Amino acid sequence: MKRLIRSALFVPANNPRAIEKAAQLGADMLVLDLEDAVGPDDKEGARDLVSGTLEHWQSSGALRAVRVNAADTPWGAGDLRAASQADAVILPKVEQVGDLHAARSSLNAFGSSVPLWAMIETPRGVLNVAAIAGATGTGLGGLMAGVNDLARLLRCAPDHDRAAMLPHLAQILCAARANGLYALDGVYNQFRDHEGFRREASQGRMLGFDGKTLIHPDQVEPAHRCFQPSPAELERAAQIVAAFTDPANAGKGVINLDGDMVERLHLDAARALLSAGSGNDP
Ligand code: COA
Ligand code: MG
Repeated sequence: MKRLIRSALFVPANNPRAIEKAAQLGADMLVLDLEDAVGPDDKEGARDLVSGTLEHWQSSGALRAVRVNAADTPWGAGDLRAASQADAVILPKVEQVGDLHAARSSLNAFGSSVPLWAMIETPRGVLNVAAIAGATGTGLGGLMAGVNDLARLLRCAPDHDRAAMLPHLAQILCAARANGLYALDGVYNQFRDHEGFRREASQGRMLGFDGKTLIHPDQVEPAHRCFQPSPAELERAAQIVAAFTDPANAGKGVINLDGDMVERLHLDAARALLSAGSGNDP
């Protein structure tokens, strides 16, 4: 069974208090951020904390990721070396397949086969996302939507229901699904607005995302609740499996279940839902 990644919490690499706290939050993925959360003067010092942090997070049970600075910055190359021992390396602002190949070959040179994840957060990245997600030999594990950079570069205004962002999110999701990759939705900045978070996370799940990238501890538990099957969904899946197991429906491709047309494709989906269960084992 594929591991659930309902939550990926960004943790600034220059914030020891947050690094300490992160290990206890039960997030599915922790992302030590060397990029936007760390100012230029702190970049080198933050990088020195990577290996100790990865060790500290070992017992958290989370997938331990590091977001590096882009290759065209003064820090990109050194960051990749420091991140090579992580469980995943997150590349920001991926715009073309070559960005992945360049990072892959640096990591290979360090003897690291760590999976790469690509942040899609520029207009060019969105336009090229199908090629990026489909490239072979890159060891790509997932895509993350970077909505703050994308909104800035598209010049779209923030709005309540993300109408302007939806076409781009859908492209990212589609490219991930076509290639068997994880797809994580963007962050929600108003971390005190719990109802707003819940609404946006539900929208992300409706679009098909596996989970959401997060910025604050308070967002972890609501993300888990949103991105794992609800009791009602599990119950419905069990009913679908039971209906197809009923000898009266043996050999049928399609059945009437309380006024719903249910086909064998729904049976496959129901089985997948039941096997994903309601969360990762502790
Ligand atoms: N990971 C782990 N712990 C975090 C955290 C995070 N992302 N954000 C906050 N915390 C901790 C704080 O250190 C504080 O710990 P304490 O109780 O031990 O003091 C506690 O959670 C409560 O924090 P709070 O006071 O509500 O917020 P804050 O003012 O300390 O931090 C932000 C607010 C936005 C600065 C902070 O959440 C943050 O830096 N988030 C991540 C930003 C980021 O990585 N951006 C780049 C990707 S978009
Ligand atoms: Mg960004």
